[in-house]
Amino acid sequence: MTSVLRPLTRFGHWLATPLLPESYLELIDPLLGAGLRGRIERVIRESADAVSLEIRPNSRWQGARAGQYVRLGVDIDGVRHWRCYSVSSGNASRDDSFTVTVRAIEGGHVSTWLNHYARAGMVLMLDQAAGEFVLPAGELPKLLFITAGSGITPVMGMLRSLAATGREADVVHLHYSPDEASNLFADDRRGLALTHGWNSLTRLTRSRGDQHFSADQLQTLCPDWRDRLAYVCGPQSLMDSVSAHWQSAGLNEQLKQENFRPALKTVAAGAGGEVRFWHSERAAEAAGDKPLLEVAEQAGLLPKHGCRMGICQGCLVTLKEGQVRDLTTGEIFGEAGDMVRICVCAAAGNVTLDL
Ligand code: FES
Repeated sequence: MTSVLRPLTRFGHWLATPLLPESYLELIDPLLGAGLRGRIERVIRESADAVSLEIRPNSRWQGARAGQYVRLGVDIDGVRHWRCYSVSSGNASRDDSFTVTVRAIEGGHVSTWLNHYARAGMVLMLDQAAGEFVLPAGELPKLLFITAGSGITPVMGMLRSLAATGREADVVHLHYSPDEASNLFADDRRGLALTHGWNSLTRLTRSRGDQHFSADQLQTLCPDWRDRLAYVCGPQSLMDSVSAHWQSAGLNEQLKQENFRPALKTVAAGAGGEVRFWHSERAAEAAGDKPLLEVAEQAGLLPKHGCRMGICQGCLVTLKEGQVRDLTTGEIFGEAGDMVRICVCAAAGNVTLDL
């Protein structure tokens, strides 16, 4: 800030006291307030249980690469909930709007709410886009996308970005959907495949009884799969089978994965303990396989969080005493001062958290 502007800004703050100037601007337009926010410009119904939200972010937005995800902060009944959703619209620069696609999942408070109540004009809190599930820079190797259900969303973003930027790409896309009605972006995918000569294959597993992913099926549909950079995104069962297949072929390095659910291990029952919440002076008994985030919520606390699956780091809490079990790896760890992802860690004995 220049030396001329600094006194003016101080004067503005003095005039605005007790509120900050941004707080007054926020009353005029919520996008002008402090922090990264976006206004929903359009709600597009993609299927009976999925909507795309076109969001225009404010000037703090730094853009997104196709395949990345964005944390949205949604206020429901006076409580702010943070969730991660993949960008489905391709690359977005600082000045662009972008789209996320939200499928209402069973028991999904925020996804269901957005499907019912998201409207144009609504303002959401945002975080900058993040994630490494993106296309490589430079000349592209041959690509293979394997998706199922709403796992299509980040891949749809990549397909759209390939089309928009005109990058040459040899693409095979294998998508699983239960039926045609829930087959997201079906027309768009067909159109892009026709225009760009991509091989886009859809398997309708419930309505037509098509087979789920198997090694034999892959070999038949995409015989050169070993020569391709592969991306997989979908339910855990698909992620596990694809990952095991690539691992057994010694091709781990050629597989990129985006998880929509944490890969939680089953751990022995009875290995939990008492969880004490330091600031709120509350405590709860917790089983050894129960994420500390859920333990805190059931104790009446509202810890900050985002993806609830160990990716975004939005739930980090300082450990004051005890040890925790990482439910994604089974590892037990912890020393006072460690930062713990409470959405994917459980108590391994008595634990005290800085909450
Ligand atoms: S909420 Fe995202 S890592 Fe825990």
